[in-house]
Amino acid sequence: MYIDIDELAKEFGTSRALHPVSLSIPAGALVALLGPSGSGKTTLLRILGGLEFPTSGRVLFDGKDATGMSVQERRAGFVFQHYALFRHMTVFENIAFGLRARKRRERPGEAEIGRRVNRLLDLIRLPNIGGRYPSQLSGGQRQRVALARALAIEPRMLLLDEPFGALDAKVRKELRQGLREIHDTTGLTTIFVTHDQEEAMELADLVVVMSMGRIEQIGKPADIRSRPSSDFVRAFTAA
Ligand SMILES: Nc1ncnc2c1ncn2[C@@H]1O[C@H](COP(=O)(O)OP(=O)(O)OP(=O)(O)O)[C@@H](O)[C@H]1O
Ligand SMILES: [Mg+2]
Repeated sequence: MYIDIDELAKEFGTSRALHPVSLSIPAGALVALLGPSGSGKTTLLRILGGLEFPTSGRVLFDGKDATGMSVQERRAGFVFQHYALFRHMTVFENIAFGLRARKRRERPGEAEIGRRVNRLLDLIRLPNIGGRYPSQLSGGQRQRVALARALAIEPRMLLLDEPFGALDAKVRKELRQGLREIHDTTGLTTIFVTHDQEEAMELADLVVVMSMGRIEQIGKPADIRSRPSSDFVRAFTAA
């Protein structure tokens, strides 16, 4: 699915979280929203997922106006920094949750749910942990399970907000690689928020540099490095 963001703005009371921003995201792209704290990254991501609504402007999915669409209709898979898995459910049940929650008509049968969950456990390279509870997993494993849970509903796009933010440097790098692989396997349009320039530059096809509710620059990592559009971008993306 391709996404167009057209002059999207968001105010909370009198404060502007987003000035009108516009951005086109090609189908299947892996996009980083990169910027310092308070630059509007989460606000933009939440508006895309339908968790927040813009004050003005439009969002289009595959060319169709999706601005007023509900969360359910948008079918986004979400992963947050602290995506609390359900503690009383096994990994298997956590991943199956979104499928079981479907209306009877759309719900796959038990055998199909089992097949899908096992396929996702393979995809996150944790094939043998279906029977464990979240408390029996490392932080990195929990985020992988959160990713599998987000993928289980067969989303149209994947939205991740600092998904590796709470993890140590080594695990972050592993999960970065894991996300890249999963993206390349699924081909899903994927947007992730980070304030870590290294993460954005290493992982993304397209980097969107944000500052104070504005988009400073949109480009491929190499282009942003070689031709930063402002002193801010130069300083923020310096290796
Ligand atoms: N629900 C809200 N009510 C009021 N102001 C908000 C709300 N959500 C965000 N803001 C404000 O909007 C601005 C952008 O916030 P946002 O969370 O999008 O930033 P961010 O780039 O994700 O920052 P961080 O890296 O710290 O997560 C900030 O000034 C923030 O205080
Ligand atoms: Mg944020």
